[in-house]
Amino acid sequence: MRINNCHNTNDFRTLARRRLPAPIFHYIDGGADDETTLRRNTEAFNAWDLIPNVLAGMETLNLSTNVLGCQLDLPLFLAPTAMQRLFHHDGEIAVARAAAQMGTIYGTSTIATTSIEEIGACTTGPKLFQLYVHKDQGLTNDLIDRCKVSRFNALALTVDTIVSGNRERDFYTGMTTPPRFTLGSLISFALHPGWSLNYLLRKRFELANVARYIRQGTDVTSSVVEYINSQMATNISWDDARRIRERWGGPFAIKGIMSVADARRAVNIGASAIMISNHGGRQLDGSRAPMDQLAEIVDAVGDRIEVILDGGIRRGTHVLKALALGAKACSGGRMYLYALAAGGAAGIQRAMTLMRDEIVRDMMLMGCKSIKELDRSKIARRTG
Ligand code: FNR
Ligand code: LAC
Repeated sequence: MRINNCHNTNDFRTLARRRLPAPIFHYIDGGADDETTLRRNTEAFNAWDLIPNVLAGMETLNLSTNVLGCQLDLPLFLAPTAMQRLFHHDGEIAVARAAAQMGTIYGTSTIATTSIEEIGACTTGPKLFQLYVHKDQGLTNDLIDRCKVSRFNALALTVDTIVSGNRERDFYTGMTTPPRFTLGSLISFALHPGWSLNYLLRKRFELANVARYIRQGTDVTSSVVEYINSQMATNISWDDARRIRERWGGPFAIKGIMSVADARRAVNIGASAIMISNHGGRQLDGSRAPMDQLAEIVDAVGDRIEVILDGGIRRGTHVLKALALGAKACSGGRMYLYALAAGGAAGIQRAMTLMRDEIVRDMMLMGCKSIKELDRSKIARRTG
């Protein structure tokens, strides 16, 4: 199978599975505990049905939306994900450029394998930096200041990962970062020589944003779980979130909001946006799906803060459903990570183009000329 034979997210997933050593594939694909929330995030879209209006005289379409101070050509952006050079040697730079080509936001992770400065220099497209608050406050402040210098457009504070979720697939596969060629994983790495040679011969793997502060970021072989559990501050509070917003001074999102009460708190500290998210089912298993919480949160705070739905998106219609309930935009991780793993820069470009084509086609079939026209009259929750 080649990327030109991939026609949807699931096809890219199948190809990624073939291309990647098992520990790496399962790190992307897996979730916490029994993966109930991981599955539910996508299934939740099926509880809602779209209701089109026909003979709407469709000609031109306007897919633009404005979030976090950025005018986007597509109401879907690339959520921040860790360590993209581990998935394909094209890594973060390719993902950032693909996002810019689509006219949408690239989110880069605190634990990216390409630095803030390199991302800042590689594209003029809209860029969001995802902040993990480390125990070392100097490091956290430094990251914020570096984003200002590199002209990032927005900052997203991730609040659902003060400890790592229990990702049991990673225990079975022996996933470490950087990957260790242990006896257990050796067979899988040996069966994927393309990936393994690239990994060994290309630019040295490091957590580029934090490497200069933390030895673990460079040469200690540890798992993501160990990294999070040893480095993240568990005692962060709403006061800290407010201070971070003030230090940053630009468009500010809180990523990982699930309750109406927290959505209100985000409004109170002056956040520009919330990303309704359970971290793609990788943290608290049994947490509700973002799509199931969306309407309630939009009704409570939608007139005072931008609501972004994050997680579970695999199809254009999923985006349309979230917008119809009142989200200003959506974001996703695996929808582009599978494609990155399957085909690097070309894979991502194809996946994002297919996703845009789906959204365009679905808008035509819905009889909606702009995002504004996708409202609650176009969607209903299925009963029974
Ligand atoms: C993530 N996600 C994530 N989020 C974050 O704030 N910082 C991070 O470093 C990461 N890293 C990460 C790695 C991988 C492999 C995945 C799959 C996800 C979560 C991400 O931003 C987003 O919330 C989820 O991916 C959304 O779910 P879907 O779209 O993957 O279903
Ligand atoms: C993850 C962390 C790094 O989801 O956010 O793997």
